[in-house]
Amino acid sequence: MSVVATAPGKVNLLFRVGSTRDDGYHEVLSIYQAVSIREQVRVRSSSSARLLVSGSIIREQLDRVPRDGSNLVVRAAQVLADAYPAPERDAQGLEFEILKEIPLLGGMAGGSADAAAALVAVAKLWEIDVPRAELQLLAARLGSDVPFSLLGGTALGQGRGEKLTELESSPLHFVLVFSTDGLSTPEVFRTLDARRATWDAAQLNSRTTFTANELAEISDSLRSGNPERLAGLLENDLEAPACELLPQLAETLTLARSLGALHAQVSGSGPSIFLLAESEAHASSLCAAMRQRNHRALTAVGNAPGAQLG
Ligand code: C5P
Repeated sequence: MSVVATAPGKVNLLFRVGSTRDDGYHEVLSIYQAVSIREQVRVRSSSSARLLVSGSIIREQLDRVPRDGSNLVVRAAQVLADAYPAPERDAQGLEFEILKEIPLLGGMAGGSADAAAALVAVAKLWEIDVPRAELQLLAARLGSDVPFSLLGGTALGQGRGEKLTELESSPLHFVLVFSTDGLSTPEVFRTLDARRATWDAAQLNSRTTFTANELAEISDSLRSGNPERLAGLLENDLEAPACELLPQLAETLTLARSLGALHAQVSGSGPSIFLLAESEAHASSLCAAMRQRNHRALTAVGNAPGAQLG
């Protein structure tokens, strides 16, 4: 018997970075939105560990996906086996097939989506009825973005990104633009820290809280599905350091804006970029225009469901 689960990638509509904590992570304030591009993970019991990878991302990236126990799907199984031990629950006795649609090291939480899908699939395979709140805690052990991939929809993320508050949102239309390069998330954070070496802690910490007005305005714009209004509220502290590390990103953002995107922004630590469109038709024409200029682009709809079976 095999079990299949899928989980969404995300964009960070807003991402503010505060100070570094004792555990090395940064305090953040994030508005996550799950998008309609999903990873699929199939798992079955096997006499030996096996990990197969296919998908639509470029060959060089597919080849770089770890095939060993360091892959987040295996770690997800290990976290479940540790929390719910039983003799037959062995992370090394599983065969995984990952269908990758989200670029590697792209800032869209592709690896986190694999982990979230694996948690759901392996729990089903091993017939463990994990309460949703417990699953969220296990997810946080696997990475800062895994809890959100499990939850989906739209959410405010705090702490290191794992403390989530659901937000209501109408659908949003995006064009996602992928890069053939990857960026290391720790390196992007480090580059930001270097730029901010002179900032004091109070200045940094104030970035990771919304004023009541800010929260009301962003919540209203999301709920009412007004992309023009929302466009003026979006920001990402990691965009400048990502562009410093990969200068062609700034050109892609300028191009996207010149083609009429309501907003163009690096997602998370990049280098994936999202363009906010007025409508589905607008997203299609923006996508065609980006492709004409040799960019890997696809349309996506925001507010997709979190990890689920099937
Ligand atoms: O949690 P995750 O494994 O996805 O994070 C990858 C890296 O990104 C961390 O090791 C850390 O360097 C950086 N990070 C951070 N602050 C966060 C989230 C991630 O510094 N809130």
